Amino acid sequence: MPAARDNVTPRPRAATIICQALYYLVGRYLPPSYACSLLGRLSKQFRALVCRQIFRSAGRNVNVEHGAYFGSGRLIEIGDNSGIGVDCHVPADIRIGRDVMMGPEVLVIGRNQNHRFDDLDLPIRLQGYADSPPVVIEDDVWLGARAIVLPGIHIGRGSIIGAGAIVTRDVPPFAICAGNPARIIRFRNAPCEAERQLDTLPPVPACAAPVNSLEE
Ligand SMILES: CC(C)(COP(=O)(O)OP(=O)(O)OC[C@H]1O[C@@H](n2cnc3c(N)ncnc32)[C@H](O)[C@@H]1OP(=O)(O)O)[C@@H](O)C(=O)NCCC(=O)NCCS
Repeated sequence: MPAARDNVTPRPRAATIICQALYYLVGRYLPPSYACSLLGRLSKQFRALVCRQIFRSAGRNVNVEHGAYFGSGRLIEIGDNSGIGVDCHVPADIRIGRDVMMGPEVLVIGRNQNHRFDDLDLPIRLQGYADSPPVVIEDDVWLGARAIVLPGIHIGRGSIIGAGAIVTRDVPPFAICAGNPARIIRFRNAPCEAERQLDTLPPVPACAAPVNSLEE
């Protein structure tokens, strides 16, 4: 996971605004990276080029896919070989580590999208937003199609979020989560059930006679 970069040299505001316009008016509508080879590759490169100017920091080989939405994107940090998937929505301050994959239509909800609702006498729309820390997705995470991640969630290294999961709590490293609300179905770094049973089986008793004695 790249360290938070508080000392990044600020880019000229005009350059960022031009790149945001290029992304939202052009890049976002270009074909996905996997579309008919050359056109897909060029589209990927164009989006990567403009997003590098928009994001706070971007590693090598970042793939912002067709239709991705990231607001102003100005506080986004994204590591090497990571992507924002086709038609995904992520907040403008998300932190994404290295080697992170997103299926299509993943929705990560940001800190300014959780309405407050404590006051029963005031319409919810006038109550402002509950603050929460930025969503963090650590290295080597795979988010399945249409997963939803709620504000302030921290997704640990090497974990997998199943298709359609709604992540309401932090996810520990190497967990595989699925469902609504998302529950851990197993850990990638824990032995599977069959292996566990093998470990707990009593040892095989030693043979009373050598095996080849059966042939005698
Ligand atoms: C999460 C995932 C990786 C789990 O794969 P797996 O470890 O092979 O899991 P299994 O198929 O053995 O399923 C284990 C259990 O979890 C359940 N489960 C698996 N994926 C689920 C999901 N997305 N939502 C709800 N439950 C799910 C299964 O029904 C099964 O439950 P059971 O034990 O009660 O029968 C996979 O199911 C998934 O969602 N992949 C995402 C694919 C995707 O979105 N690709 C987009 C392109 S990147």
